[in-house]
Amino acid sequence: MKQIDWSNLGFGYFPTDYNVRCYYRDGKWGELEVSSETTINIHMAATCLHYGQEAFEGMKAFRGKDGKVRLFRAEENAKRMRRSCEGIMMAPMPEELFLQAIDLVVKKNIDYVPPYESGASLYIRPIIIGLGEQVGVKPANEYLFLVFVSPVGPYFKEGFKPTAMAIMRGYDRAAPLGTGTFKVGGNYAASLKSGMIAHEKGYSAVIYLDAKEKKYIDECGPANFFGIKGNSYITPESTSILPSITNMSLTQIAKDLGMTVERRHVPEEELAEFEEAGACGTAAVISPISHIDDLDTGKVYTYSTNGEAGPKSTKLYNTLRAIQYGDIEDKHGWVTFVE
Ligand SMILES: Cc1ncc(COP(=O)(O)O)c(C=O)c1O
Repeated sequence: MKQIDWSNLGFGYFPTDYNVRCYYRDGKWGELEVSSETTINIHMAATCLHYGQEAFEGMKAFRGKDGKVRLFRAEENAKRMRRSCEGIMMAPMPEELFLQAIDLVVKKNIDYVPPYESGASLYIRPIIIGLGEQVGVKPANEYLFLVFVSPVGPYFKEGFKPTAMAIMRGYDRAAPLGTGTFKVGGNYAASLKSGMIAHEKGYSAVIYLDAKEKKYIDECGPANFFGIKGNSYITPESTSILPSITNMSLTQIAKDLGMTVERRHVPEEELAEFEEAGACGTAAVISPISHIDDLDTGKVYTYSTNGEAGPKSTKLYNTLRAIQYGDIEDKHGWVTFVE
C-alpha cells in the first residue's frame, strides 16, 4: 500500500498511477487501454466541447477489515451510464465492458485503496465524451470512455453531523422532461450558480423544487432527498431527478429494517411533517439535514437542533456503510470483489 496520510484526505482529486481508456470508432468499441497520461488530446470541434456530449458516473471501492477490496453495486452504475449515453445520443458503453474497465482500473491502482481503519475509500470516476469533428448540432461518431480513480477521505470529517440546506425558487437544475434523470455534465453546469449562492449563504446544498409547479421536492444538488415520518421512509418521485443508487439501496435497507417505503410526489408543506430528513448519494451515503430554509417564503423546517442525526437516519447510514465495508452480511448480493 502507498504511504499516504489517509486520515487527512479530503474529497478531491488525488493523482494515482493509471487510468483506463477505450475508444468507439467505426461503429464499435475497441480494446481497453491502460494509460499513465493524465491528459487527453482531442479535436477542437469535438461534440463534448460544443454540445455537451458528456456523461459520467461516480462510485467507490472499499477495503474491508479482511483486506479485500469491494465494489458496491457497480452493475447499477454500468446500467445508469448506458441510459445516460442513450439519453444524449452517445454510443452506449456495453455494461460488461464498463465493468471490466472498472475492475482493471482498481486492480492497477490497488495500492491506492485506503486501509479499512481510515474510513476512506477509492472514488472511481468513469466518463464518456463525444469526439470527432462536428460543427452542426449532431451526435458524434466517435467516443472516448475513460475511468480514473482517486482516494478520498471520509465525507464527514467531524463525524456524521447534520447541515443546513436551502430552497431557492429562482433556479432550476433540470426540466421535467429534460435530462435530469441522466448523469450528464450539463445538469451540473446548470446547478453550479445556485449551489455557489447557497454555499455563500452558509448552506451545504440547494433543495430544488420541481421546475414546472415549484410545488414538490425534486432533489438536493448532487444527492436525492428523503424524509422520515413515523416508520416511513419517503422519497420523491420525479421525472427530473437522478435515480440514486444509494437511495435505491437505502429504500431496500429501510424495508429490511421493517420500515414502510413511499416513493411519490413530496409537496414542500410535507417538510413540516418529517421528523428526520437527509440527502443521499455515493459521496456521503447520507448527509443528515439540520434544517431547510425556504429563502423565498421565510419558512424554516427543522430536523435537528443538537448537532446529531436522527435515529432512523443513523441506523440506515450505519447499515449501508457496514455492507460496503463487509462488516455485515451482504444479503442482497450488492458487493463484488476486485481480486
Ligand atoms: C444529481 C444527483 N442526484 C443524486 C445522486 C446520488 O446518486 P448515487 O447514489 O448513485 O451516487 C448524485 C450523485 O451521483 C447526483 O449527482
